[in-house]
Amino acid sequence: MKCRRCGADPAIISLPSHNTGFCESCFRDFFSAQVDRGIRSQKLFTHDDKILVALSGGKDSLSLMLELSRQGYDVTGLHIDLAIPQSSSQARSVIEDFCKIHDLRLIVKETKEEGLEIPLVKKRLKRPVCSACGKIKRYFFNKIAMDEHFTVIATGHNLDDEVSRLFSNTLRWDADYLAGQGPCLIGENGFVRKVKPFWRLTEFETAAYAFLENINHHRAPCPYSGGASFTFYKTLLNRMEETMPGRKLAFYMEFLKTGRPAFSQFAKPAEETLHPCPACGYPTSADGLCGVCRIREAIQDRD
Ligand code: AMP
Ligand code: FES
Ligand code: ZN
Repeated sequence: MKCRRCGADPAIISLPSHNTGFCESCFRDFFSAQVDRGIRSQKLFTHDDKILVALSGGKDSLSLMLELSRQGYDVTGLHIDLAIPQSSSQARSVIEDFCKIHDLRLIVKETKEEGLEIPLVKKRLKRPVCSACGKIKRYFFNKIAMDEHFTVIATGHNLDDEVSRLFSNTLRWDADYLAGQGPCLIGENGFVRKVKPFWRLTEFETAAYAFLENINHHRAPCPYSGGASFTFYKTLLNRMEETMPGRKLAFYMEFLKTGRPAFSQFAKPAEETLHPCPACGYPTSADGLCGVCRIREAIQDRD
């Protein structure tokens, strides 16, 4: 197959979902154009924003940081060091090396210095640690963004992450989540805007970008979670995509255009549900303490 754009022979990548295939240079252009289109069409941010990019060490978030910096955005990386043995130190050093090589700013937040290292949380909490870990990460994304005056938090979620989440929300007809899901969660009432600039790009496309850019990333899954989230749905949706190329992106785009507005009546208004946590002052919808202060309380003074 020849590159559909410049005619170079052979193309290095075939993209059936876009009914096309590209040489290396045209794939890079395609990738940048998809990111740009995703940012502009959903008004995620502009070149005036101060963007905090959440870096896990995986291929998606590192590729996101590199691509946004190349597009001239004001980006700073944020890594939450979870202190998980044999995993966190590797992820952190991959990120530190990456930021050094590309001369990018990085903030590292250690959960251990807050008494919230994940192995301790896992040992002392009586429920699965993944949801507590997610809460702790989101809490520090927002707290650091607020404290350091960032205007946007960007994560590396891609189209497969978004479509599998949408599929799961739809199977449960979770009206509140269906009213709120999307590549841009508006910032208000003590929350900084959260965006997913890779929402138009599949896992395959971000992996190809990371490979071509020679990005050394942290590959091992978290030892506490049984692998990637929504794995079953992702497999299912990829089988659908093989037979019906382009359905994943079309399903998601049509949701943004038609589905989400139809569910907007079910969204809980933020002012009704949020109040400042009496211990840390950050907004929460829980009665009394916020989720993270509850975790702090639950893991205190017990062995
Ligand atoms: P995951 O839920 O692990 O697939 O991660 C989704 C996104 O959350 C990643 O692409 C990152 O942007 C962000 N993220 C996950 N873990 C961390 C972490 N430890 N520190 C900073 N950002 C993270
Ligand atoms: Fe949080 Fe595994 S429990 S990354
Ligand atoms: Zn709190």
